[in-house]
Amino acid sequence: MEPTLLKRAEELLKQEFGFRWKEIVQTLGTMELTSCAGKDLTSFMAFPERAQGGNHMWRGNCAPQVVQKILSFVLECLPRRKKEDFLFLDPMCGSGTSKDVADKMGLSCIQYDLNPNLRQGKGGWNALKDEVEDRADLVFLHPPYHSIIRYSGEMWGSAHPDDLSRCESYWEFIEKLNFVVRKMFLSLRNGGFLAVLVGDIRQNGIFHSIADDIMTIGQMKSWIVKGQFHCKSARKQYTGRYPFIPITTEHLLLFQKENSIQIPFSYRKHGTFCVLEQDSNAMTWYVLICTVMEEQGGNATFQELYEALADHPKARGKRHYRERIRGCIYEHRSSFQKDSHGRYYLIYR
Ligand SMILES: C[S@@+](CC[C@H](N)C(=O)[O-])C[C@H]1O[C@@H](n2cnc3c(N)ncnc32)[C@H](O)[C@@H]1O
Repeated sequence: MEPTLLKRAEELLKQEFGFRWKEIVQTLGTMELTSCAGKDLTSFMAFPERAQGGNHMWRGNCAPQVVQKILSFVLECLPRRKKEDFLFLDPMCGSGTSKDVADKMGLSCIQYDLNPNLRQGKGGWNALKDEVEDRADLVFLHPPYHSIIRYSGEMWGSAHPDDLSRCESYWEFIEKLNFVVRKMFLSLRNGGFLAVLVGDIRQNGIFHSIADDIMTIGQMKSWIVKGQFHCKSARKQYTGRYPFIPITTEHLLLFQKENSIQIPFSYRKHGTFCVLEQDSNAMTWYVLICTVMEEQGGNATFQELYEALADHPKARGKRHYRERIRGCIYEHRSSFQKDSHGRYYLIYR
């Protein structure tokens, strides 16, 4: 769309609606994605205007509408559960958004947090050590985003070793979070739901998707993407040398306990594959030779390749591995160019 047209629209909207113009446009612009087929909960959520509840000054708070929409959906899924028997639990409640929403909807809500000075709920409750004494129909788990915002020692009290925002490494955080996911899921009533709200992070230039790295448990009902508005990081100017993709979404994963005895799960497997020391049937000789050449500047002699690959599992114990290397280069002649000194150069087309 032409920038002049957009500018004109912006000016007209500002004249008409003042400072609220942007929220109005964002709401209109996301409406087609946030409501569909007569439903007002879809796999995309966007709340440019935060409703009342919790504390918007509490860093990492979530919009009350997220809680309200998930609660309404779960109530719809459990028509036989009487409203007065329904129990909602938030084990990392922060500023108390969950209870404020539940109160408005006339539902019982129990809140815990490691923070000993909670506005409402059980403070000083440690998700890694303490018992979940309440079996709920819905658990809403909104953990820290690794160490992006440090809670103990910065938002409340002094640094606590079991604060999930104070893990030494990202993978220690994921391991602890997976423990909490299992614990909270097991604590659900049969048929209950676990909703986990997590974000993607980038620290020291390294991107991690928490949603993609945590375990799944029970029956996955939905993976909802949530647009983020009014984010502190959106106002920051980045001067790094490398291009990067700013994070403007979060993820809400919804799991149901359809069977309380047989519980399906899946874990992410992570590690490092060393091309020079390990083999895989997905890696051919051709790929291995190209990789070795790239490592040494895009060229190699036969002798250099023999030496680099003599101990590789593809070559180890094989009398004819040198012939295999030469054969591979001849088979892929068009990918390599030989100079008058017998050095082969990788050709990129
Ligand atoms: C992202 S905030 C939750 C925000 C909340 N949904 C809101 O709207 O205000 C995460 C919370 O997890 C709490 N937390 C961190 N580690 C914990 C642990 N081991 N046990 C219980 N709560 C913990 C922090 O104190 C923090 O309040």
